[in-house]
Amino acid sequence: MCGIVGYIGSKDAKDTVLSGLQQLEYRGYDSAGIALVHDHEIKIYKDQGRVDHLREICNVSFSSNLGIGHTRWATHGIPNKLNSHPHISNNERFVLVHNGVIENYKKLKLTYLNDYKFYSETDTEIIANLIEYFSNQGKDTRDAVLTAISELEGSYALLVIDKKDTNKIYIAKNKTPLIVGTGESGITIASDVIPLAGHCKNYISLEDKTFGYVTSDEIHLFNYFNKEISFDMKQLDISSNAFGKGDYDHFMLKEIHEQPSIIRHLVQEYFDKEKINISTEIIQCIKNCTKINLVACGTSMYASYMAKYYFEKLCNIPSEVFVASELVYSSPLILDKPCFIYLSQSGETADSIAVMKKFMDKGFPSIAITNSVNSTMANLATYHLNIFAGKEIAVASTKAYIAQIVVCAILAKAVSGQKTNLKNNLSKAALAIEKILEDKILIKNIAKEIVKANDLFYIGRGIDYWVCLEAALKLKEISYIHTEAFSSGELKHGSIALIDQGVPVIAICTQEGTNSIVRSNLIETKSRGAKDIVFAMESMSEASDDFIIPNVAHYLAPIVSVVVCQLLAYYVATLKGNDVDKPKNLAKSVTVE
Ligand code: G6P
Repeated sequence: MCGIVGYIGSKDAKDTVLSGLQQLEYRGYDSAGIALVHDHEIKIYKDQGRVDHLREICNVSFSSNLGIGHTRWATHGIPNKLNSHPHISNNERFVLVHNGVIENYKKLKLTYLNDYKFYSETDTEIIANLIEYFSNQGKDTRDAVLTAISELEGSYALLVIDKKDTNKIYIAKNKTPLIVGTGESGITIASDVIPLAGHCKNYISLEDKTFGYVTSDEIHLFNYFNKEISFDMKQLDISSNAFGKGDYDHFMLKEIHEQPSIIRHLVQEYFDKEKINISTEIIQCIKNCTKINLVACGTSMYASYMAKYYFEKLCNIPSEVFVASELVYSSPLILDKPCFIYLSQSGETADSIAVMKKFMDKGFPSIAITNSVNSTMANLATYHLNIFAGKEIAVASTKAYIAQIVVCAILAKAVSGQKTNLKNNLSKAALAIEKILEDKILIKNIAKEIVKANDLFYIGRGIDYWVCLEAALKLKEISYIHTEAFSSGELKHGSIALIDQGVPVIAICTQEGTNSIVRSNLIETKSRGAKDIVFAMESMSEASDDFIIPNVAHYLAPIVSVVVCQLLAYYVATLKGNDVDKPKNLAKSVTVE
């Protein structure tokens, strides 16, 4: 969702901030803006639309040493120029950008800001005016910022500039990531580390309820009791090249191709010869529990179904998958000794974090399985496991899904203590994905046949049904074709009424036990006019099948069959001319509930 970049130093702030914002585009946004300090004045440029458009309207001849920028994913108020950040206080002294949501903004407006004029519908504008309000009471800016943020309920990463002191950027963080990096030519602040690459050597990821300010060469951080806090910087070991598309047309295609090497990397990370390298505390935590609750959103939730399968089959522990956004506001029956496992690519998903806090407050242990060791969830959880997928830039998640499934398979094996052929089977799965990637032209041809569809259905049973859920999500996310996944047995209880002449129905058949029944269900749809398409595992394939998935261990079939569906979604979206990496309305990191 929203992205923040700030820069103060000897380089040109406009270039640094705009290229940083461009690197945060993957998070999803609909407006962009920048404030630049020039000659003790603050110039603001902002509008609805992409960063490229902002670059055009911010066509300034001056150079600036201080700038703050923002990409906005609309929450309070439609995407338009007035609601875009930066926002400015009534006396035009304080200018700020904000990620997050201020839950008590209406109350604060009524309590303090009755005499203030508001130009936008945002919750953010009240923060600028609240700082002005407290500054007008005689507080210095640091104190005014502290007093204002102490009043805020909700989440925020904030960058504030004071027109009367343009040698500083004030910063504040609660529940939304904010990273400060130092380099030879100044200090860069951003929502994640990507904009720091190439500019900074060291960085610090701020803790919740931290505020302070940076100059071009100093960082001062304080807690909310106004006590200066010491901190250690970490070394930034990423180069700006790590975030390029390479020879691929899109990040999504690059990330799909990275999947075999991610599987191999996970084998290296988690296996020491045949022994699994996972801390005994984590294994014991799961062994001690009587039920595993898996909590996640989106693609990570669909990966959780495979985790449930592994924990039940291998460890004999009952497991249940929960949608994080539902679990926040419900109170399921929690019996005996539960363990909560959270799957999240970003580790920043607001709903999952809210559930984690809720159940950690009740004293239940948590294991976060994420792609970011520095994320809020990784830091908050009792234990953390890394999925080592490398930064995922395309909004539609691909490699994180298979990496999450692989880590859960390894974890379940470790907990079960069973002798394992998993390592070998994972290597075979990596080879099978490579074979699919070699044959991707066949998938492109299938894409041409379905590109005009208005509706499409994936069907399968058991493990294959769970892959159908992810496959349908992928296709709808980037092709905008209405796609649903059905457990094939359920079709005749209602959904089959949706089958019309020519509606594509894709069956995934990788499991011996359900292959023939899924095929029968597909024939039922074909008899009602559906266009039938089959993706089948080689060992159970038939001559008329549309794509043959190389044989792999049945329990690893999802990480292979899903690749066919990822590529299908990718090709349909490109054939339609859609913005594959940045689909409309979607955000990569969903930091609001
Ligand atoms: C967003 C992304 C999805 C992702 C979901 C959960 O909706 O667009 O790709 O699956 O959030 O994100 P997480 O980072 O928790 O896995």
